[in-house]
Amino acid sequence: MTVAVYPGSFDPVTNGHIDILERTSRIFDKIIVAVVHNVTKQALFTLDERVDLIKEGTKHLNNIEVECFNGLLADFLKARKANVIIRGLRSITDFEYESQMSMMNKKLFPEIDTIFIVSDSQYTFVSSSGIKEAAMLGGNVSSLVPAVVEKGLQEKLIQLTKRSK
Ligand code: PNS
Repeated sequence: MTVAVYPGSFDPVTNGHIDILERTSRIFDKIIVAVVHNVTKQALFTLDERVDLIKEGTKHLNNIEVECFNGLLADFLKARKANVIIRGLRSITDFEYESQMSMMNKKLFPEIDTIFIVSDSQYTFVSSSGIKEAAMLGGNVSSLVPAVVEKGLQEKLIQLTKRSK
């Protein structure tokens, strides 16, 4: 059984992430989406909300599990008996950061290999931070995120607007 881990902040999950999961779910027996608990990053969605949004956005795929993790990604892979990390690549800028991260993970746990999937051309400009900024300023991001995420963003906008009054 080949188990791969797709780690990230997923704040929130986008159609770019979903596209990568659809494509890699045909390659691996099981994919664990690992949502990082990063104390240094101010997230819009809580960890539980992010997990629920990914579960809802991937319910058409039958070999996806979603979990949270903190600490080292390499330790998470060891604990789950997985040795493949999936990461998406949108640009050469992504590659520079991603290749360093993959080398660090390999140093920490030599059995790990990182598989890079080139983003679909329609999502190369899509990032969770861009989605959040556009949505919180009232922009329409409906073609870039699952419907459940669009609804979640609208709810966050209402909450933020109420709080600032
Ligand atoms: O979606 P992101 O924020 O680009 O994902 C980055 C992530 C979560 C993959 C990365 O920050 C990570 O692996 N964090 C866990 C800590 C760790 O293992 N660091 C060492 C590898 S460089």
